[in-house]
Amino acid sequence: MSLNAIAQKLMKPGMGILAADESEPTIAKRFTKIGLNSTLDLRRDYREMLFRSKEAMQNYISGVILTEETLEQSAVDGTAFRAILAEADVIPGIKVDRGAFPMPGEAGEKITEGLDGLRQRLAHYAKLGAGFAKWRGVITINDIAPTRNNIRANAHALARYAILCQEAGIVPIVEPEVVGDGDPGDHSIRKTEDVTGETLEAVFKELRLAGVDLAGMLLKPNMVLAGTKAKDRPSVEEVARRTVAILREHVPAAVPGIAFLSGGQTDEEATAHLNAMNEIGGLPWPLTFSYGRALQNVALVTWAGERTNVPAAQAAFSHRARMNSLAALGQWRTDLDKAA
Ligand code: G3H
Repeated sequence: MSLNAIAQKLMKPGMGILAADESEPTIAKRFTKIGLNSTLDLRRDYREMLFRSKEAMQNYISGVILTEETLEQSAVDGTAFRAILAEADVIPGIKVDRGAFPMPGEAGEKITEGLDGLRQRLAHYAKLGAGFAKWRGVITINDIAPTRNNIRANAHALARYAILCQEAGIVPIVEPEVVGDGDPGDHSIRKTEDVTGETLEAVFKELRLAGVDLAGMLLKPNMVLAGTKAKDRPSVEEVARRTVAILREHVPAAVPGIAFLSGGQTDEEATAHLNAMNEIGGLPWPLTFSYGRALQNVALVTWAGERTNVPAAQAAFSHRARMNSLAALGQWRTDLDKAA
């Protein structure tokens, strides 16, 4: 399949991407919150619960972002996760960055690592059937951040990653996240808007310089939100309007789709914002979800590490996936959510 065909399949109307690519420290944090230790078996059981959620996987999820561990892992009965996904016609993806590390300097910023040896790793993932990949660049907002140097360094790394993916026949998901729940996290929506614009500008400049085929990639941006601790809370309509405006200004129409991260929003906020953007309509690219927490929160708590809770957890996951599928079509309504 061509890069563009994979990207189009991931963006099929009413479908979105499940981000199940929590690193070991991150999944350990999520498990700790529900009183569980993060063991290899429990991580497998949890992800098996998600991937075997037939209703969600067959109807609302086009791709799953996996970790290196999960891409090569099998369910408890020995069936490879990749085979379970293939049966539901879901494309496996792989998170290939090695995480965001402190950037030299005083601004408390981060730079994502993982470029060394990436060409060889991508060739291996392609052989295992990965159709797409993800790399997350983290842009920090505080009194002195972001610096132009940090935006440029993260944009450059994203572009180097993206061209290596395309060389390996893998669709790169380019994820420059302007973080809203950082420290102090009290910035206004205007600030997020400015920084998101500057970031996207730098990212597309670097992608072009690197020779990335824009028709063979997807963008995974943050929404334009106020910092999580900001006093002024923008309405759903304002978030949608500002996000769509900044994307129109900076994202070329050649990009086949935009799949948002949820970034610490509540489940319903993430759904409502996506829906409001799709209600605006008339955009050059489809808008969908590539959520981690906002798809998994309720399912994780419901599962709680117990096999007997699997059906209820799968029902919770399928419900959230369906709500976001409706939002990707601009057809979600609060009462549908509440009816569940
Ligand atoms: O890199 C971030 C994840 O893929 C999306 O996670 O929706 O919880 O922000 P999130």
